[in-house]
Amino acid sequence: MGLDLLLGLQWGDEGKGKIVDVLTKNYDIIARFQGGPNAGHTLKFDGIKHVLHTIPSGIFHQGSQNLIGNGVVIDPVIFQQELESLDKFEIDYNQSLLISRKAHLILPTHRLIDAASEKAKGAKKIGSTLKGIGPTYMDKTGRNGIRVGDLEFPHWKKKYRDLANKHEELIRFYQVDLTYDLQALESDFFAAVDFIVDKIRFVDSESVIADAQAKQKKILAEGAQGSLLDIDFGTYPFVTSSNTTAAGACTGLGIAPNKIKDVFGIFKAYTTRVGSGPFPTELFDEVGERIAKVGHEFGATTGRPRRCGWLDLVALKYSVQINGVTQLMMMKGDVLSGIETLKICTKYEYHGELISHLPFSLDKEHINPKYIEMEGWQEDITNCKSYDELPCQLKEYVSFIENFLETPVGLVSVGPDRKQTIFR
Ligand code: GDP
Ligand code: IMO
Ligand code: MG
Repeated sequence: MGLDLLLGLQWGDEGKGKIVDVLTKNYDIIARFQGGPNAGHTLKFDGIKHVLHTIPSGIFHQGSQNLIGNGVVIDPVIFQQELESLDKFEIDYNQSLLISRKAHLILPTHRLIDAASEKAKGAKKIGSTLKGIGPTYMDKTGRNGIRVGDLEFPHWKKKYRDLANKHEELIRFYQVDLTYDLQALESDFFAAVDFIVDKIRFVDSESVIADAQAKQKKILAEGAQGSLLDIDFGTYPFVTSSNTTAAGACTGLGIAPNKIKDVFGIFKAYTTRVGSGPFPTELFDEVGERIAKVGHEFGATTGRPRRCGWLDLVALKYSVQINGVTQLMMMKGDVLSGIETLKICTKYEYHGELISHLPFSLDKEHINPKYIEMEGWQEDITNCKSYDELPCQLKEYVSFIENFLETPVGLVSVGPDRKQTIFR
């Protein structure tokens, strides 16, 4: 039985959490494969809005198994808070949630290094969520990290102390003004570790996936961040520290590439980005402000305002290619209602030449985005239930995207709620 992937094609926050929740009923296992609490995945149902950071977005469905794969980095303190926020839903997470023993732990000092590094960069900062993601992946690839499986052995606290001491030296190296109380942070950290060891089942997740596949179970891998934040293919250095693209699902769960069936690529009908870095189609006018306001474009993890701009099909085409997207899903079309003329970027002028691919640098001084214009739709579409009901201008917008990307749009989302989802 194949396995499907759901990935963000832009700079994150495309609406992955909502759609994973909508699709969960079709799957036995929902598995996160990379990222960590830098992610904020919003779900809305029965009048409740809930944001998940580390826990897969299938958690609210009885009978679904949720797996945190080896590619994910886990902050025990944030993870405990997330688990406690589920208490009111009476979810038996001892049964429905599994963590890979090979997933790496975010230590309090990883967060401090993140903060020191960003402070030292000054105006050149990445705009990190400061959750310790970069430093944790650095220790993983540097072969110094502490993994969930280590917690089952008594020696892990010695390993912890040695690593934390080294981290403190690194923090001093940055020579920035950073006040912290490591003892207090560690006391929360060790308490959270005890909580997790007590409540959550640790597994060899690659075996769980292999067994599930042998039993013909259906698996959906849930991406975090977006393709343009990928460590290799994103707008480096303004990226996150993991592979957010399809290949990341192979290494982050132990899936063989030939087992991947559908790749669902999810995008907003416009573009947003939070944090620093190039953004060719960014708007600095009242249209951008309007999109931010109507779309409530504030980060689900940090609350920071998201930068907004027109849809960028050059960047989307790149993401579709790298991920091998088989089906597109368009989110937040409702936010564009009422805008008279919409623009879509279809080419870049790069050093005076018109190009259709994503070049090495997307910096402002090199790129001038070229747009086509389309008539917008004026109707409120948030109550539309079928594709036929949608305004003809929106259908033309979708057709244009499909033709350009040579990939079908199988789903259109018209609001944040589970029910505001139209399958074609
Ligand atoms: P994720 O990180 O990809 O899961 O996305 P986020 O949860 O960070 O951001 C998406 C935001 O858009 C959330 O506030 C969602 O509730 C909201 N949302 C999702 N789909 C739609 C939609 O079709 N229309 C509107 N208006 N909001 C949506
Ligand atoms: P979801 O899964 C949007 C951005 C940060 C910053 C850069 C590096 O909700 O789509 P990091 O904390 O990883 O060091 O930050 O990446 N970023 C995200 N932007 N959505 C996310 O996740 C993000 N996770 C990280 O804003 O620019
Ligand atoms: Mg998000």
